[in-house]
Formats: sequence, structure tokens, C-alpha cells
Amino acid sequence: MSTYTITVEPVGREVECDEDQTILDACLRAGVWLPHSCTHGTCATCKVDKLDGEVDLGEASTFALMDFERDEGKLLTCCAKPREDVTIEADLDVDEDLEVHPVQDFTGTVLVLEDIAEQTKRLVVELDREIGFNAGQYMKFTVPAATVDGAEVGEVDRTWSIASPPGETTRLEFHIRNVTGGRGTDGWVFASLAEGDQVRLSGPYGRFVLKTSDDKHAILVGGGTGVAPLKSMVRHALEAGEYDGDLTLYAGGRTRAWLYDVATFRELEEQYEEFTYRPCLSDETPEEVEASGDDPHAYAYGMVTDVIESDHERLGGCRGYLCGPPAMVDAALKTLMSRRLFPRDIFREDFFDESDKNSSGLKSPLIKR
Ligand SMILES: Cc1cc2nc3c(=O)[nH]c(=O)nc-3n(C[C@H](O)[C@H](O)[C@H](O)COP(=O)(O)OP(=O)(O)OC[C@H]3O[C@@H](n4cnc5c(N)ncnc54)[C@H](O)[C@@H]3O)c2cc1C
Ligand code: FES
Repeated sequence: MSTYTITVEPVGREVECDEDQTILDACLRAGVWLPHSCTHGTCATCKVDKLDGEVDLGEASTFALMDFERDEGKLLTCCAKPREDVTIEADLDVDEDLEVHPVQDFTGTVLVLEDIAEQTKRLVVELDREIGFNAGQYMKFTVPAATVDGAEVGEVDRTWSIASPPGETTRLEFHIRNVTGGRGTDGWVFASLAEGDQVRLSGPYGRFVLKTSDDKHAILVGGGTGVAPLKSMVRHALEAGEYDGDLTLYAGGRTRAWLYDVATFRELEEQYEEFTYRPCLSDETPEEVEASGDDPHAYAYGMVTDVIESDHERLGGCRGYLCGPPAMVDAALKTLMSRRLFPRDIFREDFFDESDKNSSGLKSPLIKR
């Protein structure tokens, strides 16, 4: 196998990259930070200029890397593999809140795999050694080769956000929603994965992280398992005392059956006056909640966006952290902006899947991923 040198401008750092390795992977493993979000050719966050050298552009979505951009010599570092020595120029806006933890490979043992909500599991993995990460980052799992509809299919990677705080360095928690027909969920986590199994994973990835240098009111909005990285942020902020501002968590679900960790968040709310928890039910009414014997005042009603709008006239001076299905993240983004939150103060993590590669779901470059 051939190995090539990647030169990263404007910093002039040089990194060795195998021919079957992406430029992003080589750089992150060498501790050279490059902007990225989905790591699957969908979001365009990792787009850079190629100044010199030949690459294989890989499986970049035609929406994330348009034909004219390919002609101009742009590439997505999460997809591109070198075919000779390559020089790239990247916008290296390294965030002061982002401690750069080089990506590493780990093996882990599944300690817990339990149902926590409708179509949702909690996965807890004990790693073979310690990991450093920022609250909000994610890991990539190797989904094993399998037989699908009688055909052999190879390994694939799937990304799931870390829900536990950085202080827990060997035991990582994940929240995983089943996607019908999905290779990693329907075909693995919800089909055959069991407690005691060994898994392979790498990380940490992503720049959706809690700005711990801040004291702005953090408005955290999670749809479904979009709560995962927000739980890591909330626990890190409160339990480790790593945040000086207030935090409000909006967690959206259709009914109570789709929400999880409600008791955990309520306990945190009791314990820390700076934390507010707003579980939002879009398809259940106060009457239905009361009829089942539960306290109707313990929930808000409507989509998370409706609840935020009725809670706040203005959100200027706050920070927004949005996570979950791309459509929900988009809707929440519009709501926060309508309440005077500047785009520069809004951060998003879109849970793109394979189907998003074929859609033009790209968002404004003004919004940080
Ligand atoms: C940064 C990041 C963090 C994430 N964190 C989480 C998390 O914490 N929890 C969580 O539940 N999810 C998370 N996700 C989503 C997760 O990575 C997976 O996309 C999701 O779990 C589904 O994976 P899958 O392999 O089961 O489905 P996939 O195999 O990706 O399939 C998804 C859907 O697309 C269809 N499909 C497959 N291939 C194609 C194709 N070529 N064209 C059109 N349709 C296709 C499938 O039939 C299925 O309906 C995250 C995503 C990102 C990008
Ligand atoms: S990180 Fe490369 S396209 Fe999303």
C-alpha cells in the first residue's frame, strides 16, 4: 500500500496518509484539526481547496460537492483519498472550547443494551482504555459484515453521539433510534447485538461541543435521540461545574412513550437551579396525560418549536444547540432566529443517514455545525 504526504495550509503541517485512508481521518488521527461534522460526505462542512496533487474524491454527495466545485479543485476531506502527495488549504477556525483529542481506534464490550423508549435503545460500552473527548462529540462504530437479502455485504461505519460526560473516560453511553431498513440499527443494534459482545469504534469526532468558556443561557433542543449529545453537555456543565450560564433543555417526542431519561433530567432540575427541563409532547394532550394518572403540568404540549416560541419573546444573547433529524433542526433554527438569536450563536448537529446523501438537505453556511 502506498502512503502519501498531505500538507495542510495555511499552517504548513504535514501528515502521512495511506491510499485507502481519507485525508480527514489521517489528519484527525495525527492531531491536526480540520473542520468536519457528518464525516460521511453529506454536510459539506469539510470542504477545502486542493492546491496541488491528485485525489480520489470518494463518495462525496453531488449536493455537498457540486460539479463546478470539483472542477475548481475543491474536495471533501472526509471522502477524498490521496493518489499522490497533496496540498490542501483549509479554513482552520479552531474553536477555543474545542480541545483537540486525536481520533483513535478502540474495542469495547457491550455492558448495557436496553429499551428506553419506543424504538430506542441505550447502549453502554466499556472501552479497552481511556478516551478524551468534548461534551457533544460522537463515535464511529464498525457495523460487521452481514448477509442482507441473501447477498454478502461488507463492514460499514455508523456514527452515534456520546451521551455520557467527558469525565467518564472508559464507559460511553449512546442512545440509538431504530430506522426501518437501516443497516446499523434495524440490521445490527436492534437485530443481533447483545450484552457481552465486542464492538469496534473510533473517535472522537465532530465540533458540536458545549462552549464551556461561555456564560450565555444555553438553549438545548433535541428531537428523539438528538437528546444524546445534549445529555453529555448538561451533565458535564452541571456535575463537573464546567458552565457558568443557565441551561434549558427542550426534549421533543410524539408521546411520553417516545421520551426517555425523564426522571434523570427531573432530578438534575431539582438539584441545579440553573437547569430547566422542558419535555415536549407533540401528539399527546394534557387530558390524555391526566387520564393516565400522570401530572399534566409536568410536560409542555406541541412541537419543541411551538413551546420555545411560547416560552420566549426574545432569545438575543443566548446560545442555541440543536440536534436531531435534519427537518427538526431546520425548524428549530428558524424559531431561534425569529426570536433574535444570531446565526453565529447557533450550533447544530444533523443526524444525517444514508438517505440524506441523495437529497439537497444542505443548510446555510452561516450556521455552524
Ligand atoms: C454526527 C451524527 C451523529 C449521530 N448521532 C446519532 C445518535 O446519537 N443516535 C441516533 O439514533 N442516530 C444518530 N445519528 C444517525 C446515525 O448515524 C444513523 O444514520 C442512524 O442510526 C441510521 O443508521 P442505519 O445504519 O440504521 O441506517 P442507514 O443504513 O443509514 O439507512 C437509513 C435509511 O436510508 C435508507 N437508505 C440506505 N441507503 C440508501 C441510499 N443509498 N439511498 C436512499 N436511501 C437509503 C435505508 O433504507 C433507511 O431507511 C447520527 C448521525 C450523525 C451524522
Ligand atoms: S464532514 Fe465531510 S461532508 Fe460532512
